[in-house]
Amino acid sequence: MAENEKAEELRKLREQAKLGGGEARIKKQHEKGKLTARERIDILADSGSFEEIDAFVTHRSTAFGLEEQKIMGDGVVTGYARIDGRPVYLFSQDFTVFGGSLSETHAEKICKIMDLAMKNGVPVIGLNDSGGARIQEGVSSLGGYAEVFWRNSMASGVVPQISAVMGPCAGGAVYSPALTDFVYMVKNSSYMFVTGPNVVKTVTHEDVTSEDLGGATAHSTKSGVAHFTTENDAACLKDIRKLVSYIPQNCEEKVPPQPSKQPEGAKAKALDDLVPPNPNKPYDIKDAINGVMDRDSFYEVHEHYADNIVVGFARLDGRTVGIVANQPLSLAGVLDIDASVKGARFVRFCDAFNIPLVVFEDVPGFLPGTDQEWRGIIKHGAKLLYAFCEATVPKMTVITRKAYGGAYDVMNSKHIRADYNIAWPTAEIAVMGPKGAVEIIFRREIMKAENPEQKQKDLEERYKEEFANPYRAAARGFIDDVVLPSETRQKLIRAFELCQNKVDSVPKKKHDNLPL
Ligand code: HXC
Repeated sequence: MAENEKAEELRKLREQAKLGGGEARIKKQHEKGKLTARERIDILADSGSFEEIDAFVTHRSTAFGLEEQKIMGDGVVTGYARIDGRPVYLFSQDFTVFGGSLSETHAEKICKIMDLAMKNGVPVIGLNDSGGARIQEGVSSLGGYAEVFWRNSMASGVVPQISAVMGPCAGGAVYSPALTDFVYMVKNSSYMFVTGPNVVKTVTHEDVTSEDLGGATAHSTKSGVAHFTTENDAACLKDIRKLVSYIPQNCEEKVPPQPSKQPEGAKAKALDDLVPPNPNKPYDIKDAINGVMDRDSFYEVHEHYADNIVVGFARLDGRTVGIVANQPLSLAGVLDIDASVKGARFVRFCDAFNIPLVVFEDVPGFLPGTDQEWRGIIKHGAKLLYAFCEATVPKMTVITRKAYGGAYDVMNSKHIRADYNIAWPTAEIAVMGPKGAVEIIFRREIMKAENPEQKQKDLEERYKEEFANPYRAAARGFIDDVVLPSETRQKLIRAFELCQNKVDSVPKKKHDNLPL
């Protein structure tokens, strides 16, 4: 074969590989409102940066006449690319080839890029759109899944792993995204469930659609499996690009800083009047975050799940920080099971990847009740406590208002090795709020009083003066300073400057035993 014929053959093969399952199936994919595996990569990656690996791989199966149906790439496009100039490994399942189902070779391709990602310290992004195990390959396919799961587990805490579910993801296949750090879902075109609506109907007699059972809304509001919900494929891929800008390449690196941006003047000014004089009145803790952090830098994670706690990434003077904040607008900012688990997972990601933590605290305590107790608020609340205790990244706390009881200890208190803890003058740092405290410690006096109501009021006033303020804690050095809200940004920036090279560690161990 002449040189140019060889080049022509290669060109043809490449063209063929690009077509995946063919025009008709691509048309079907578009009709469902979905992009193809390659179109998705085009949006995710910097223009022209994608380098494909294993485009010529085909399956080895001979069952059910499969040897007659070999499609190059075998249902997954893999390789590496750049996002804002920084490298990532990625795989993108191609639903037009056997429904994106996972064969042994399909799994091998994913494993290859995961191994490279681990070796080279580069994040992995997986775009999932698959009918699950390739039925014709039986246990070989199941083995392939387990190989992927094992790598997901080994890579956890070593390189960031991001999953987007952009089509079906059912059965055991859900456990690969579940093992990764962040899960994106696309509204109305993606679903995740261990068993689908038909099995659910047979077993529990419930009538439920795929979307209601395991769609983006269900998983971002009810189960918390999905961290982000997006309107369509393109929005999902652009959001992943945004997330990548906040995270490092691996557990040994830091995130490259970006230019510092002062918060919007009005937002910063409004801080001093943010906390209402009435301690029972709510306010939006996101106003505190936006008034302190770099302008428009807050990227919320798990926005629609357990919204009594707010978590997400922001930039402070150009550097990524992880925010954990109680939200007085929802359940008065109380800590319940879902909020504790959400917070703990986020804190652990930040600690694993060298992202400093900033806590905004306004917490009346843990949520009381049989539901919470019987479902284990003790062990789940312990997760958040544990996560803050073990975190060795720079960690700072701003107490805006209530810091009551056990929740005071849990929310990154000085005692569990936070680096810089400050309080606003509106802070109330105490075992509990005035009403509850007075009812317990002065019960007899109140009962005996001529006017019990007045007595209670007077005692509450006394308690407020003595305890419901930041100065008792400041007198003990449990907070480092009391600052005006408008001074917070500058104070945190200066404190972080000194923590840039913080060295801290946990005792040598095989691994921890986080309460599960
Ligand atoms: C082989 C598959 C496949 C699979 C789909 N296809 N799923 N081929 N193995 N698992 C093929 C179809 O034959 C079809 O081929 C093409 O993909 C598109 O499928 P359609 O059914 O036409 O598409 P759609 O109507 O959109 O339905 C998508 C679907 C459905 C809901 C995913 O295909 C489906 O239910 N598939 C089976 C899902 C399943 O039970 N998988 C195993 C789950 S258990 P043609 O040639 O017609 O285009 C599992 C265990 C993992 O995954 C365990 C890990 C531990």
